[in-house]
Amino acid sequence: MIDLKHLIYDVADLAKETGAFIRKEGEAFDSTRIEYKGLNNLVSYVDKTAEERIVAGLSKLLPEAGFITEEETINKTGEVFNWIVDPLDGTTNFIHGLPTYSVSIALEQDGELVAGVVYEVNRDECFYAWKEGGAYLNGRPIKVSSNKEFSQSLIATGFPYYDFTLLEKYINVFRELTKVCHGVRRVGSAAVDLAYVACGRYDAYFEYNLNSYDIAAGIVLVREAGGAATNFSGGPETFNTREILAGNGLLNVKLQEVISQYFV
Ligand code: IPD
Ligand code: CA
Ligand code: CA
Repeated sequence: MIDLKHLIYDVADLAKETGAFIRKEGEAFDSTRIEYKGLNNLVSYVDKTAEERIVAGLSKLLPEAGFITEEETINKTGEVFNWIVDPLDGTTNFIHGLPTYSVSIALEQDGELVAGVVYEVNRDECFYAWKEGGAYLNGRPIKVSSNKEFSQSLIATGFPYYDFTLLEKYINVFRELTKVCHGVRRVGSAAVDLAYVACGRYDAYFEYNLNSYDIAAGIVLVREAGGAATNFSGGPETFNTREILAGNGLLNVKLQEVISQYFV
């Protein structure tokens, strides 16, 4: 049995150290030093170096664990434990000098998400949670909001930016939601979106075409903060479906109903 609580404290420290590196690099970042992995899919040496640092740190903390990482700087599968890492979630913001980006690290045990850390670099906010241990922000317990109505809610999303085949369906959902809630936000880091659902800043969040490393840590945060994180049909599988619908649990079904009118 591993001590998840103490392990996650160490992972939080590692996320903060890596965040400090990213913040420092951001101060003098040369935006010509970027590469394209695909349409509008940007990466820089900062993402890659941050990932190498995280992998080195996590390897010391739990040597038997494997990795699923965005930048694929390591190729290792663990029998029981696997880390799911996005070293810099919000790269487009980082490259353009916008403030919202994060480090996201989750732990899977036998295929189940058991712990997660999201560090929002420029707010120095470290969100962490572990299975049956609750969710925390800089040491204080957090929970999801208690809004039951769209009319009092703030909803987050991510706009499609490389695969536009479902754009019309997406716009229909956006049109409906934007008329009934306080607003729809697109901040640019899925991990931060989920962390904000966990601490009640957002009441709900949805996006599609995501990868496991974008959402794994945030899912643990939302669930441990008392919310629910599913796919668009309400099922628990979010990685293969590449869909996330997260919320305070009171608005999830309503959001699911709106989405399911268009996404079948
Ligand atoms: C992106 C962010 C963004 C989401 C994209 C992700 P990246 O991750 O989470 O909010 O809309 O789909 O790819 O590329 O900055 O790590
Ligand atoms: Ca990401
Ligand atoms: Ca990333």
